Amino acid sequence: MTSDKHTTHFGYQEVPVTEKASRVADVFDSVASRYDVMNDLMSFGIHRVWKRLTIERAAVRPGHSVLDIAGGTGDLTYKFARLVGPRGRVVLADINESMLRVGRDKLLDRGVGGNVEYVQANAETLPFPDNSFDCITIAFGLRNVTDQNAALRSMTRVLKPGGRLLVLEFSKPQSAALNRAYDEYSFRLLPRMGEFVAGDADSYRYLAESIRMHPDQQTLKGMMENAGLERVEYTNLTGGIVALHRGIKL
Ligand SMILES: C[S@@+](CC[C@H](N)C(=O)[O-])C[C@H]1O[C@@H](n2cnc3c(N)ncnc32)[C@H](O)[C@@H]1O
Repeated sequence: MTSDKHTTHFGYQEVPVTEKASRVADVFDSVASRYDVMNDLMSFGIHRVWKRLTIERAAVRPGHSVLDIAGGTGDLTYKFARLVGPRGRVVLADINESMLRVGRDKLLDRGVGGNVEYVQANAETLPFPDNSFDCITIAFGLRNVTDQNAALRSMTRVLKPGGRLLVLEFSKPQSAALNRAYDEYSFRLLPRMGEFVAGDADSYRYLAESIRMHPDQQTLKGMMENAGLERVEYTNLTGGIVALHRGIKL
């Protein structure tokens, strides 16, 4: 979310709006090859449970058209490819070529084939016609986008009427005790794990900071409504460390 016309936040740093995307690109270029292993380590594997719930709530059926934007290494795309079947299609899209490459290689290794397309795209300016998708997911991606309102509008534009947007993102823990433990973990342990496993403490410091700067559950709900989505609701996961928001384009 931009804080004024000229600057925005990159973690706790205030940077020119024009700089955030390249800073984020540096982070994901740096972590791409170790991204999956770090995800399992950092979340103790729980990100798989969060993603499973996202897939369930997406209610994707054979023949559907799905966009997994900021899809990175393709965890959600992999599941959607099976659900939509040969008559459907899934677009794995990401702004970052390194992440997209790791995702494409992983899915091809797992035998995912003809119903998946790979597109390098910015969520703010999606290169698809209006009303293209039955379902769009953005998992742990919105936080990294410079203009989140523009991204929400762009995603709403390319949803078909009746289609759903699911936003899986870090959010605000609901208890003070959990908040304290989570702060300890993310500001002390996480950068050390990042250093040890991915040789990159800074990227994981950015992760912790960007989570704190991200809109809380209610704010994001309002942003989705402002973008034109209806019946927006959310579910807190793991005590609100993560929230899954869903909205419908009517
Ligand atoms: C934390 S990863 C999430 C990957 C995957 N969705 C998952 O849940 O494992 C965030 C992804 O968002 C992508 N990203 C950041 N800004 C973006 C933008 N403006 N448009 C599209 N993708 C973006 C990054 O390149 C990165 O691959």
